[in-house]
Amino acid sequence: MSKAFLAGRQPLWALRDVSLEVAPGSFTCIVGPSGCGKSTLLRILGGLDTPSSGRVVMPEANGRIPASAFVFQEHGVFEWLNVFDNITFGCRMAGMRWAEYTVRAREWIQRTGLRGFERAYPHQLSGGMRQRVALARAFALDAPALLMDEPLGALDAQTRLLMQEQLVDLWEAERKTVVLVTHSIEEALLLGDRVILMSARPGRIKDELTVPFPRPRRLALERTPEFGALRHRIWAALREEAEMSALAR
Ligand SMILES: Nc1ncnc2c1ncn2[C@@H]1O[C@H](COP(=O)(O)OP(=O)(O)OP(=O)(O)O)[C@@H](O)[C@H]1O
Ligand SMILES: [Mg+2]
Repeated sequence: MSKAFLAGRQPLWALRDVSLEVAPGSFTCIVGPSGCGKSTLLRILGGLDTPSSGRVVMPEANGRIPASAFVFQEHGVFEWLNVFDNITFGCRMAGMRWAEYTVRAREWIQRTGLRGFERAYPHQLSGGMRQRVALARAFALDAPALLMDEPLGALDAQTRLLMQEQLVDLWEAERKTVVLVTHSIEEALLLGDRVILMSARPGRIKDELTVPFPRPRRLALERTPEFGALRHRIWAALREEAEMSALAR
């Protein structure tokens, strides 16, 4: 598919001839320079925007609504809702009954370590806790696909590492279909089954590689030579694109 936005009278091509297949239950990470269309791609996958040409086919969804749950790049939680209401928001919007969403919310509050904070508001939480609320909301919805746009991007380095491990644990227990956008090569290699590299705008798929590391994965993986070699390979490919996109700006 391709996607153009109107910039004045000119079309601005955000995505050009992107073709991607995502296997059910797989974890796909997308990396690429800023402005290459990663968020646009994710929004189209989730049905929040439409492609200019081409289409998204989701056999897994089976007409189910919602087919995917989102964790956004920023503004991941509603400031005016407490933790419980934030986590159950998607379920309530999907028309789920009280009895069901309460059980799900309790489970995910437990699994994301938010017990005791059900009635707290986002401004009373740390950045990492807010992010866990956003993740709990997405998992609680139990949609077949989870679409995450830099879900850990706003966190400090240490909290981010801890949250990466938590996310890897949650996913290894649930095995949902995940597409995650990240600027961090390490994060992509720690979490993903494969990594998709996008080119500078107009975004195309430049390369794709399978992540060979066995699961369960821990952070210590990042200190192995195999990890270092893959990181280097991805960085070399991305570097050129990142420089091009920096020049274009
Ligand atoms: N609603 C919109 N209207 C016009 N242009 C848009 C719109 N959304 C995105 N764009 C443009 O499309 C291109 C891709 O944007 P997108 O947000 O998908 O990039 P990204 O890869 O997610 O970048 P980042 O890594 O900085 O988040 C950018 O040039 C952006 O300006
Ligand atoms: Mg983005």
